[in-house]
Order: sequence, then structure tokens, then C-alpha cells
Amino acid sequence: MIKPPEYISNIKPYIPGKPIEELERELGIKDSVKLASNENPVGPSPMALKAIVDSLMSSNPSNSINRYPDGSGYCLKMALSERLSVREDELILGNGSNELIDIAVRTFLQPGDEAVMAHPSFIVYPMAVQAAGGRPVQVPLRDYTHDLDAMADAVTRKTKMMLIANPNNPTGTINKRYEFDRLMDGLPDGILVVVDEAYHEYVADPDYADSMKHFRGGRDILILRTFSKIYGLAGLRIGYGIARKDIILETNKLRPPFNTSSLAQNAAVHALKDENHVRYSREINEGGKRYLYRELDSLNLKYIPTEANFIYILLGRENPPCPLLVKGGAWGLYNELLRYGVIVRPVGPEGIRVTIGLPEENERFIEALKKVKS
Ligand SMILES: Cc1ncc(COP(=O)(O)O)c(C=O)c1O
Repeated sequence: MIKPPEYISNIKPYIPGKPIEELERELGIKDSVKLASNENPVGPSPMALKAIVDSLMSSNPSNSINRYPDGSGYCLKMALSERLSVREDELILGNGSNELIDIAVRTFLQPGDEAVMAHPSFIVYPMAVQAAGGRPVQVPLRDYTHDLDAMADAVTRKTKMMLIANPNNPTGTINKRYEFDRLMDGLPDGILVVVDEAYHEYVADPDYADSMKHFRGGRDILILRTFSKIYGLAGLRIGYGIARKDIILETNKLRPPFNTSSLAQNAAVHALKDENHVRYSREINEGGKRYLYRELDSLNLKYIPTEANFIYILLGRENPPCPLLVKGGAWGLYNELLRYGVIVRPVGPEGIRVTIGLPEENERFIEALKKVKS
């Protein structure tokens, strides 16, 4: 009987946030809200939507979906290049930034190599490293934030990569400029630092680390961003990476030829221009954050202040025990909330991550929390 290598069968599968349709089918309920996957609750950029519809209706045969897309993503790369002041050969497009994590790992890691990352952080990192036969070296967070000094200490001769989510998922915390600069100054040559900035556009802290500075300084760095979050295009799957030309050249060798669709490329070009949509999405997020902080405070629930579009809520058992401790910890609370039609994300035994939604969605979440508590 055929079996994969042990390093593949040992991978724990990724469990995506529960789809609304599935929950409603299972419980026979309606009007549930999904606050589990950090999508933009405002929806996609109207300019991006119009561009998709226009291109579908266009009589220009090169726009038609019976043709393969432009594999190089020329127009989107031009738009990004102008926006970011980088050259097109310093950009790679991915089927979501998730694909670029995989491609980067497969490009630079050999079986037995190590990749340093934080824990808890984006769960795809250890999976991608394991899938390449590498060894994920997970360094605990300090104060719910990447402990960059401890991560630097975890580097060995086998380390080829460091993966940093900034902001971090699930905690929403950021690493600041001074600590990131210190990490980069101290790292030996030949380690690719992958800085995953999926939530970068939400960050308000002026001390947010400046990864672009290190890219411009010619360092071994790959910066990943996405159109799935503030731009509201998660369903289209498109993200991008910024790195030195030689790094892009190598990663491009493993990129499937038509990995991003013509609709996604076109939508991304227009979403990038849609400053009103980005500004409005940020405002909705900030308003939702203020409301949720207030309500969580009044429920005596501990949470980690966030720089992203989600909040990590702690369900600790000690000092004082969380007033919301239900049987089964985070999974217990997750299941209770499902009964009220609210989908969140349990994180480990003692935390839940909730995406900041529209005002009415946030209210539904708080109402459901109150019902569980009573
Ligand atoms: C930290 C982080 N990186 C990457 C991704 C993947 O995003 P994409 O939709 O671009 O693949 C996510 C999605 O939740 C994320 O939280």
C-alpha cells in the first residue's frame, strides 16, 4: 500500500474556519455570522468588483476566461511596482500569500534544514516546513508577541529560514522597528527572513517594523502581503512577495505557470487604487475594535490589544479564572457560540480569536457571549 514519507503523514491538517452554510445546514438556523477567518466584513472593493464584471463582459478576447491568464501578472506587477517603488523583477505573485509561503519554503529548505518561527503563530508555517522535510523550530511568544531575541538565539548552523508574522496571527501583536532592526543586524548571512505582513494595512502603531528598509538594504528578506484582508478579495486568492531579484528568480522557478487567475489580477489592480474602500475598511475595523474592547472589559474578559482585524481573547483558568470558562475550554466556548449562530476560531485550549466584523456582527458576538455567560 502506498504511503507518503513520515514527515508528510505527521502533518496535522489545517482546519479552516467553519463556513456559514455548513453551520446553518447542521443546526437548521439562519442569519449566522462568521468571525473566524479575518476576512474584510465590508466586502470587496467596489472598484475591483466593477473591474471583474467589466472584464467578463468585455469583447476583448485577451480578457476572456477561456484564455489562460498572463502568467507573469504584468499589469498587477506594474501597479505594485509603482505603489511600492520596487522593480517588477523584485515581485512575485501568489495564489494567496499562502502559496508564496509554500514556494519560499520549498525553494530554500532542504530536508533536515531548520526554520525558526514563533508559537503560537500562523499554523501554516510549521506545515509548510514539515511538507518540505524541514524541521520547524517553534519559539514561544513573549507577552503574546514574537520574541525576536529568543528566535535569534534559536538559530543554528542548520537554520535556513525565519518566519515572522507581523502582525502575528492569532494574537494581533506587532514587532517594532528597533527590535526588528536588531534582529536583522545580528542574523548571519544565508538565512531568509520571511516577514508575513498579511495585516500590514491595518497597523496604526507608528513604531511598526520597517521591513522594506531591509529589503532596500539588499538583505535576505522576503516580504509577503495579500489582497485577502483589507482589500476584501480572499475568495479570489491573490497575494504578492517582495524580495531581491535573485530571490524572486529562484522562487519563480517553483511558481506554477498560471498560479493567479486573470480575474484576481484584474481585481487586485483596481482594489489597490480604491483608497476610499481601504480607508472605510480601516474605520470600520477601528470602530469595531473600540466597541469590542469596551464590551469585553465590561464582561471582565482579558484580551490582547490588536494591530490587526481580529482580537485574541484569553480564557485562562487562573488569577482570576476567566468568567467565561465553559466545559471543554476554547472548543467548548466555540461550540456554545455556534449554537447562537456565531462562528469564531478556538486557539489552543485557552484562547479564542474573533474577527472584528460589522457593528451588527460584533453585537451578535457580544450578545452570544453574554448568553453563554448567564
Ligand atoms: C498571518 C497570515 N499570513 C497569511 C495568510 C494567508 O493569506 P492569503 O489569503 O493571502 O493566502 C493569513 C490568512 O489568514 C494569515 O493570517
